[in-house]
Amino acid sequence: MKKSQFVKDLKEKDLVSSPFLVKFCATAVGKNGKPYMNLILMDKSGEVETRVWEDVASYMGQVVRDAIVHVEGRCQSYQGRRQVVAERLQVLREDEVEIKDYLPESHLDADGLYQQLLDFVATMKDPFYRALAEAVFKDDAEITDRVKRAPAAKSIHHAYKTGLLEHVVSITGMLDGLSRHYGEILDRDLLFLGGFFHDIGKIWELAYDRVTDYTDEGKLIGHLVMGVELIDRKIRELESQPGRIPGAFPTDKKLLVKHLVLAHHGKLEYGSPKEPQCVEALVVHMIDDLDSKVNAITKFIEQDQTPGRWTALNRNFERFFYKPDWALEKLLKAQTKSES
Ligand SMILES: [Fe+2]
Ligand SMILES: [Fe+2]
Repeated sequence: MKKSQFVKDLKEKDLVSSPFLVKFCATAVGKNGKPYMNLILMDKSGEVETRVWEDVASYMGQVVRDAIVHVEGRCQSYQGRRQVVAERLQVLREDEVEIKDYLPESHLDADGLYQQLLDFVATMKDPFYRALAEAVFKDDAEITDRVKRAPAAKSIHHAYKTGLLEHVVSITGMLDGLSRHYGEILDRDLLFLGGFFHDIGKIWELAYDRVTDYTDEGKLIGHLVMGVELIDRKIRELESQPGRIPGAFPTDKKLLVKHLVLAHHGKLEYGSPKEPQCVEALVVHMIDDLDSKVNAITKFIEQDQTPGRWTALNRNFERFFYKPDWALEKLLKAQTKSES
């Protein structure tokens, strides 16, 4: 079934007749005692809230997250936002659709970004730290494949294919600049490992073949501890391979790398079991925070449809943002395109 109608083109009063991927699905009971369905439908161009008021019982158990459903209905405006009211839903088989039409496209060049990462590794001087980075990024095909595809989060920041790698390369570039700025106060190689590994556990913490969600391991263990487990495993592998490192991996180096990963959320209440206790850990934490916030705010401004200079309320940051000229121009272009 060819998809010709995409979320980004839906306007108020449009008739909807197209397949979409179900990103979220929940059933609730209305004031009249009848069940209704709240859905978030998506395709490669965006997401739209959807309500189903009729025949809900017949869809339960079939219309679930990750299903592809053909939707017939109409688009309306509800509290300033687009909403689809679906009148008929039909679940499709995967071989009936082109799955790439439903997953967010990445504008990023994963191979190019990965090469930038390897170029950073090639500049490292410490033989232990460098061997550890190589063991993770050069010798392990599964990790390479996952790092090229993983998003950095389910929502909020870098929440798209290859977002994690974009985040890591961006952070490492800033860490490189800071190590030049502060000179010998900072251990550049250690900082790099903090940039590389702080979120590496996310490649298994999240599932991202379809709709991004947490895996069981992600829910039960989390990416900080998973990162430390990976570091442990790779150090043991290096120590068992003669000639890879000049001797046993020094204990202080091992502890510092793990500390950078465990402390990168900065505070106990943000999920770090340790607060930063060396300067490199503090720097990695602050640069990680900076990069994720800049990305989250930029993406929010880019997607905001509110006319004028100010965005709608951003609930994560609890504030409105002032839109720069580039965002206004983009919005204007999109509006003229959809009117023509
Ligand atoms: Fe993190
Ligand atoms: Fe991060």
